Amino acid sequence: MNRPLSYTDSTNEDIFARICHAIADDGYIVLPQALPDELLNYLFVNLIELNPHEFERAGIGREEEFQKNRFVRQDTIHWLEPQMEFAQGYFAWMEELRLRLNRHLFLGLFDYEAMFAHYPEGAFYKRHLDAFKGNTNRRLSTVLYLNPQWYPEDGGELLIYQKRQKTPFATVPPTYGTMVIFLSEKFPHEVLPANKSRFSLTGWFRVNDQNPY
Ligand code: OGA
Ligand code: MN
Repeated sequence: MNRPLSYTDSTNEDIFARICHAIADDGYIVLPQALPDELLNYLFVNLIELNPHEFERAGIGREEEFQKNRFVRQDTIHWLEPQMEFAQGYFAWMEELRLRLNRHLFLGLFDYEAMFAHYPEGAFYKRHLDAFKGNTNRRLSTVLYLNPQWYPEDGGELLIYQKRQKTPFATVPPTYGTMVIFLSEKFPHEVLPANKSRFSLTGWFRVNDQNPY
């Protein structure tokens, strides 16, 4: 499949507007199907073929880049490089979203980085924030789930919390095509253990401030 995938059809116009409204009103959105099917499937078949030996243990935040704490997170990751041919459609879709968000919400989002994460059976990621004041320039998180045939008993849900609350307000099963987008500084979240391999593509829109606070 060589031709570039379209991301500006009428369906997507609609979805970008929905995301902008939800981020403005609630700070987050859960979309059962965000990307066009063709783009999603193409991304999936290529990601799933990445060499597992090239995956690395995930670190926890920039300051502890090399601290790989098994009590906090147990996934392995593979960064998506902008030059990866198969990822062009995905990056283009995110670029369109970045422009729309900046235009409507003045978020000043500057760039986007993404990593493919594999949680082996039983792996989890404890409650955390993707960004907190003074720590990173990540402003908006995206998570895309790539698990065909995921059943409730498979576990692996993403739990999303309001700060200082012990009960999650959202429980998201990592089913194929579901995308979650949320303000990185606002929502603590965690990944529950799953009883089989679990794949997600997580990304962050960042601002360019060298010293934002
Ligand atoms: C992360 C994260 C959630 C998921 O990588 O920071 O929270 O469901 N991932 O994979
Ligand atoms: Mn996270």
